[in-house]
Amino acid sequence: MLLRPLLSRIAMLLAGAALAGTVQATPAENDAAMIRLATDSGCMRCHSVLPAPKRADGLPPIAPAWRDIAIKYRDDVRAHDTLVRTVLDGSDPKRRHWAGKVGAEAMPPNADALSAEDARVLVDWILVLVP
Ligand code: HEC
Repeated sequence: MLLRPLLSRIAMLLAGAALAGTVQATPAENDAAMIRLATDSGCMRCHSVLPAPKRADGLPPIAPAWRDIAIKYRDDVRAHDTLVRTVLDGSDPKRRHWAGKVGAEAMPPNADALSAEDARVLVDWILVLVP
C-alpha cells in the first residue's frame, strides 16, 4: 500500500510547518539558477529571498525581501512592467514604497549590472514567490 508512506510524508510536512518561528522556503525560493542570476547581478548585496526582521547589527534590512515584494504586488496586474522599470532605473527617493520598513537609502539604478531581459526574468521570478 502506498497510503502509509504518503501519510507519514504529510505528517512530516505538517511537523516542519509547525516549527516555531522558522520561515520555510518554497521550491521557487530555492531556484538555484535564479539565485545565481540575482547574485551575479548584485541584487543579493541588498536583498534577501526570505524576510529577516533585522540585520545582524540591529539595523533594518537594506532592501525588502523578495517574498515581501511578491506579497505586496500579488493583486496588482501592472506591477510587472512597473517593477522592471524600477529595477533598471532605481527607485524614486521621493516616492519610497518601503519607507520605514527598510534602510534610508533608495535603490540605485541597476541597468549597468543586468540587461532589460534579465530584469524581466528576475521580476517574473520575484512575483511568484508568494508563500
Ligand atoms: C544597493 C541596494 C540594492 C540593490 C543592489 C538592489 N536593490 Fe532592489 N531595492 C533596494 C531598496 C532600498 C528598495 C526599496 C525601495 C523603496 O522603498 O521604494 C528596493 C526595492 C526593489 C523592488 C521593489 C520596488 C518597489 O517599487 O516596490 C524590486 C522588485 C527590486 N528592488 C529588485 C531588485 C533587483 C532585481 C535587483 C538586482 C538587479 C536589485 N533590486 C538590486 C535596494 C537595492
